[in-house]
Amino acid sequence: MTETRAEAFSSGDTGAPDRDVPVPGSGGESAYERIGGAEAVQAAVRLFYERVLADPDLGGYFETVEMAGQRRHLALMLTMLLGGPDTYSGRGLADAHRGLNIPRVHYAKVGGHLLGTLVELDVPPDVVHQVRVLLDQVEPQVVAGRVDPV
Ligand code: HEM
Repeated sequence: MTETRAEAFSSGDTGAPDRDVPVPGSGGESAYERIGGAEAVQAAVRLFYERVLADPDLGGYFETVEMAGQRRHLALMLTMLLGGPDTYSGRGLADAHRGLNIPRVHYAKVGGHLLGTLVELDVPPDVVHQVRVLLDQVEPQVVAGRVDPV
């Protein structure tokens, strides 16, 4: 069975560069390329964290976090998830969020900020949908009280 990109994060295995989340009508180009590559991803990550830090329910999680590194890691992770080059070297999602005790409601808010950012940046609706699907797939790795599949 082929591992999805999202699942690859729980094991630390980067997996084969297969197109497990097909982009409808993309003509073979990855979602990463279609939205404008590294610059577009970096712009999205900057705007996303502005929203998250300004959210009174979420800002506290990042009070002691070094945000430049955080932005870089999320950008590299999104790049990989959207079918761009895989150079992510941070922790897996489960490792990074273990101990933070993140409830579902906060996960949903963060997801909403990410999707809202993409819409604000005019990312094509099918790519926004692809990210929504990924958010559903990785939720168990981030939210407290869920156990990773073995
Ligand atoms: C799909 C959703 C999410 C993704 C893709 C994501 C991605 C990441 C990444 C790539 C890192 C850096 C890992 C590293 O530096 O090695 C990280 C760390 C972190 N994330 Fe998330 N995250 C998500 C959801 C959330 C949520 C919902 C919260 C809080 C409500 C959150 C809070 C944090 C915090 C506080 C850190 C820093 C932890 C530390 O430095 O010890 N994340 N996340």
